[in-house]
Amino acid sequence: MRPEPVPLESENEIQILAALSDLMGTSMPFEQVIATAMRFTSAMMGAEGSSLLLVNRREGNLSFYIALGEKAEQLKNITLAQGEGIAGFVAQSGLPIVVSDVRRELRFSRRVDQVTGFETRSIACVPLRVREELKGVIEVVSKRIGAFSDKDLDVLTAIAGPVAVMIENARLIDEVKGLHDKLEKAGRLKAEFLATMTHELRTPINIVIGNLDILLGGFVGELNDRQKESLKTALRNSGEALNLVSSLLDLSRIEAGQFVIRMEEFRLEDVWTELEMLFRLGLSGKNVELSWEIQAPLPALQTDKIKVKEILSNIVFNAVKFTDRGRIQVSTAPVRGGDEVEVVVQDTGVGIPSEFLPFIFEPFRQAEGSFTRSHGGVGLGLSIAKRLLNLLHGRVEVESEVGKGSTFRITIPTKYSA
Ligand SMILES: Nc1ncnc2c1ncn2[C@@H]1O[C@H](COP(=O)(O)OP(=O)(O)OP(=O)(O)O)[C@@H](O)[C@H]1O
Ligand SMILES: [Mg+2]
Repeated sequence: MRPEPVPLESENEIQILAALSDLMGTSMPFEQVIATAMRFTSAMMGAEGSSLLLVNRREGNLSFYIALGEKAEQLKNITLAQGEGIAGFVAQSGLPIVVSDVRRELRFSRRVDQVTGFETRSIACVPLRVREELKGVIEVVSKRIGAFSDKDLDVLTAIAGPVAVMIENARLIDEVKGLHDKLEKAGRLKAEFLATMTHELRTPINIVIGNLDILLGGFVGELNDRQKESLKTALRNSGEALNLVSSLLDLSRIEAGQFVIRMEEFRLEDVWTELEMLFRLGLSGKNVELSWEIQAPLPALQTDKIKVKEILSNIVFNAVKFTDRGRIQVSTAPVRGGDEVEVVVQDTGVGIPSEFLPFIFEPFRQAEGSFTRSHGGVGLGLSIAKRLLNLLHGRVEVESEVGKGSTFRITIPTKYSA
């Protein structure tokens, strides 16, 4: 059996829709896709001008979004009031319309022609809809009477669907981008505020600590034991507050992008020497062996020493804090042909529950609940270490088993480059 012949008018629609879907598959900006489709369609209809008008969501008026034809430039500055002209009627009623002779059409407004000098005789206009909401209209115009038929209206209606979707998508993308920018700005403001606040808080806490030291040292008179005990408690708490504020300051400075990299050449061994006494102090009274091993000669580092020191100190201090017996082994070696150094911090401490491992680098996360916590700290050390490592283009990985211990593997590029 022979296939039914396809009527000419639907052949046109199919041709246009096929061209449109080809265009949509290209990397062309969507305004150009729409303009090309409209140019193609109006040429097929023998129209002299075509335009796409969008409804302004707030005022309800219509403005020219795309205009093609000899008067296109002038049209861009014109706004139609709600319901004004044929476009206004279609945008309000949602009904497609063909006007064969505008002189016999009461809804036609001469205002646009008066501005542009174009002499419109006939119009075809269809609504642009997304999910029943009217977004605007597509209109083609001609200087000839009776230039358009109902079939032309079908062709216009066929492109109106995909065009409306493209416009709505672009609007949604703009909205999301705007929101993202706003959120980013709000986040930055918050971080800057925190950085300033914590910086300001450090000064009074330091003054409190200084004065407590003076009192405890007996420089302003002898104290009895009870007075000394309560001052010591105050001193300990002020010290903790200072640590917290300093950690918060570090974190918020990184978040606010207020950190600069200060490059210098140094040896990792020196960093260790500067820290070792503090670690040993933290281990006093515990039966834990602390060792530092260099597996192969290390290259000198050219990066930010203060940050490397802070990273190492946060990770080793955790091992010191969470290990009550056994050993803490810190071993280092050059890797990737000396382009990076690796520091492995291995302890035989309490270990980290596997369900908690994914969160340890997030701020304020601690395996122990705040009521059962016996180790002190606020849960900022690892998040700071990780962020500092990111700044230096380094990495950190962790393996741990509850009851057996934890291993933190840090890798830092030998030479920092931006
Ligand atoms: N070596 C380790 N052994 C066992 N648990 C660890 C170890 N390192 C980190 N953790 C777990 O990860 C949590 C987060 O560590 P992080 O250093 O960020 O905070 P913190 O040590 O509790 O407090 P802060 O470092 O701010 O003083 C710790 O509370 C602990 O539960
Ligand atoms: Mg810590």
